[in-house]
Amino acid sequence: MATRLLALLSPFLLLLLTVALAPQLQALTSSAGSTGPRTPLSVTAITQLDCGNGAHDVISGWVHLATGDMFWSLFKARAGTPGLVVHFQGGPGFSAYDHAFLGAGPCQITRGSNGTVAALTPAPYPWTEHASLLVVDYPVGTGFSSYENPLRPRTAPNTSAAAALDFDAFLQVFLAEFSSYATQPLVLHSVSYGGTYAPHIAEVVNKRNEERPSGRIVKPIDAIVLGNPLGDMVAQIELAEKLPACQDALAIAIEDNTTENRRNAREKCDPFDEDGFQLALRNRYDRREEHCFPVFKCFWWIEPLQSFMNSGTLRRLLGAPPTDVFRWPVVGPAALNFHAEADHYQSAYRLLTPALEAGTRLLVYSGKQDTICGWRSTLSWMRRLSSPHRAAFNNASFVPLPPGLGSGDIMGAGTDYTLLRIEDAGHIVEFDQPALIQAVIAAAVKGRNYNPFAQDPEPIHDQWWFTKWWWAAHSPESVLIS
Ligand SMILES: *[C@@H]1O[C@H](CO)[C@@H](O)[C@H](O)[C@H]1NC(C)=O
Ligand SMILES: *[C@@H]1O[C@H](CO)[C@@H](O)[C@H](O)[C@H]1NC(C)=O
Ligand SMILES: *[C@@H]1O[C@H](CO)[C@@H](O)[C@H](O)[C@H]1NC(C)=O
Ligand SMILES: *[C@@H]1O[C@H](CO)[C@@H](O)[C@H](O)[C@H]1NC(C)=O
Repeated sequence: MATRLLALLSPFLLLLLTVALAPQLQALTSSAGSTGPRTPLSVTAITQLDCGNGAHDVISGWVHLATGDMFWSLFKARAGTPGLVVHFQGGPGFSAYDHAFLGAGPCQITRGSNGTVAALTPAPYPWTEHASLLVVDYPVGTGFSSYENPLRPRTAPNTSAAAALDFDAFLQVFLAEFSSYATQPLVLHSVSYGGTYAPHIAEVVNKRNEERPSGRIVKPIDAIVLGNPLGDMVAQIELAEKLPACQDALAIAIEDNTTENRRNAREKCDPFDEDGFQLALRNRYDRREEHCFPVFKCFWWIEPLQSFMNSGTLRRLLGAPPTDVFRWPVVGPAALNFHAEADHYQSAYRLLTPALEAGTRLLVYSGKQDTICGWRSTLSWMRRLSSPHRAAFNNASFVPLPPGLGSGDIMGAGTDYTLLRIEDAGHIVEFDQPALIQAVIAAAVKGRNYNPFAQDPEPIHDQWWFTKWWWAAHSPESVLIS
């Protein structure tokens, strides 16, 4: 039974089954009933994080939604540095706190000799030098973001489309509370399964902004930055002998997008089945590294991060519930729910069109040593995606990066639609080439896609530029946020 189940599941889920599910459900049961009156947002901690590079403000809390509570932490940028980067992870169900403590936040965990966290040390290339970093465990059922009712977990979103409504609600509550960010550049960053989440989010946020229901804070997304994304299942399938049957099933699922058709496609195609990991000769997340199995052994930091996230120090820093109430899982039960709905088996990238037409920029970066979400699949859907950029992108070619932050090449440099390939990086480029990803983030909050041929990018827009432009384009009579 366990093997059969594992064979059905996406890679990160293996972790869930081994380390996370039982403690989480038990924890939720024991905390049920203790919740007081609910407010849309509650702050659990306002603290300072100092690992030897000065004090950094960190604010954490919950946004309370009908489906459950979303946990977030805001790692503030240096005073006077505008811009908000919202990071959520892939999975589905993988916690976003890996990036927070592995290079993007001001402090990172370092590898101990025997699998423990040696120390929290200054991150050499933190994103917080350039923007505030809002880390959110998304969707509900991920990391600290718990279900409203553990006895009825099915009420939690189990598709990217349903979860995107939660994201929009989350962002509205956050922007209402921290209103200065409503007039600053807003960048969404995610990796891996984020390539399926993000198009759904972009679609919902863009649509709601256009509908402008009363009381809405209209804040368009300036840029979407995706690393090694899963954006289109059609381009993902690389298993030759399965191909004809799989393509037929997929074509049907994409034409007629029902749960049943998606599940049928999953049966015929699954590029993430257990055998794909067990039989692989190298680490599928980074083919420079040796074979690893089960999947949680493929990243050195999974166990150290897990013990760090469940330490008293960290729980105090974030104001998160103590471990005897709730154990932080690297992968949460959202993974199971999304899998049951076969949410992977679609062409999510198509949903990006309206946001791109509204002016949102897209940059995708891809570590070339990854064999899970490789650059070929990304190039394929980026070429097909209907947008104002398609003709120019299809006419462009890869240009080598100049010497500097890392080797690789880039397509669409100097435009608002860019693909960056990075030679010495696997599935999570942030962990392999943090200087380069920091430069990508720095450019994103300054109003342009990373362009290695532009010298020393300065902000090209004032903080209000994109929001004003959006309003002028959509509602010429008004340029103010309601
Ligand atoms: C890890 O090694 C350190 C010293 O090298 C030791 O103090 C500690 O107990 C070890 N931890 C584990 C979990 O083995
Ligand atoms: C997904 O969620 C919907 C809405 O709550 C529910 O009706 C459906 O049964 C769920 N799907 C699965 C496979 O549990
Ligand atoms: C396919 O249907 C699912 C379930 O309703 C939804 O989550 C998803 O957004 C749809 N995909 C596309 C590309 O429309
Ligand atoms: C295609 O590229 C060529 C050569 O770089 C250029 O002259 C031409 O204008 C481009 N066409 C489009 C549609 O971008």
